[in-house]
Amino acid sequence: MESSSRERLVVALDLPTAGEALAMAQRLEGKVGMLKVGLELFCAAGPGLVKELQVFAPIFLDLKFHDIPNTVKRALEAVLKLDPRLVNIHASGGALMMETAAEAVRAHRAAGGQTELLAVTVLTSLDREALARMGSLDDPRDLALHLAKLARECGCDGVVCSAMEAGLVRDACGESFHRLTPGIRPRGEQALDQARVMDPAQALRNGATWLVVGRPITQAPDPAGAALAILKEMETTR
Ligand code: C5P
Repeated sequence: MESSSRERLVVALDLPTAGEALAMAQRLEGKVGMLKVGLELFCAAGPGLVKELQVFAPIFLDLKFHDIPNTVKRALEAVLKLDPRLVNIHASGGALMMETAAEAVRAHRAAGGQTELLAVTVLTSLDREALARMGSLDDPRDLALHLAKLARECGCDGVVCSAMEAGLVRDACGESFHRLTPGIRPRGEQALDQARVMDPAQALRNGATWLVVGRPITQAPDPAGAALAILKEMETTR
């Protein structure tokens, strides 16, 4: 199996306890590129679990910080001590917040760290109507593209976006600006609660850098086998 496909597969460990997350990480060791730890697991199990998981794979710490610049910087500095592979913030925190965050991540890398910073543009749970209720008259897709360009200007290393938008972001921001895309479903599988899904090969063709897959792997009877099947699908883009 091509290691580049494996490196691009990120598994969302959306599990309620440290024990379940560690057991899953063990089963997936060497089969996937990164493990995503989100708010649920981080709030339940804390930084100690992240250290334990790093034995099995690099970590994407998906905590989506959104606060005033100084608070975000200090929160980032706390989690950068774990040297995760990826961290993220909300682009809607504004340019100064993103610049301050990018500065903290750059300083960490200058000191030998590996972390890169992604910005969440527009949550996929916000459609046009939801944005209008918040006072924004933008189309979510236009706003996402606008915020991706701003995130790049502010020194972020990439964005979290739908695979549907990955190509637009790549064209606007360049190949080296990463696109991490959730909402990925293996061919022929149920979308579950995801509204706009793409299969792994489509997402890669459409410009995704990393694919985030959760339940199709973590809820499969054989998670390692499910990951392997997704890697095979990714290979069909070649
Ligand atoms: O189980 P599933 O593959 O749907 O998991 C996708 C993961 O990506 C979940 O952790 C979900 O919270 C996250 N995510 C998403 N859509 C976004 C941002 C994050 O599905 N726009």
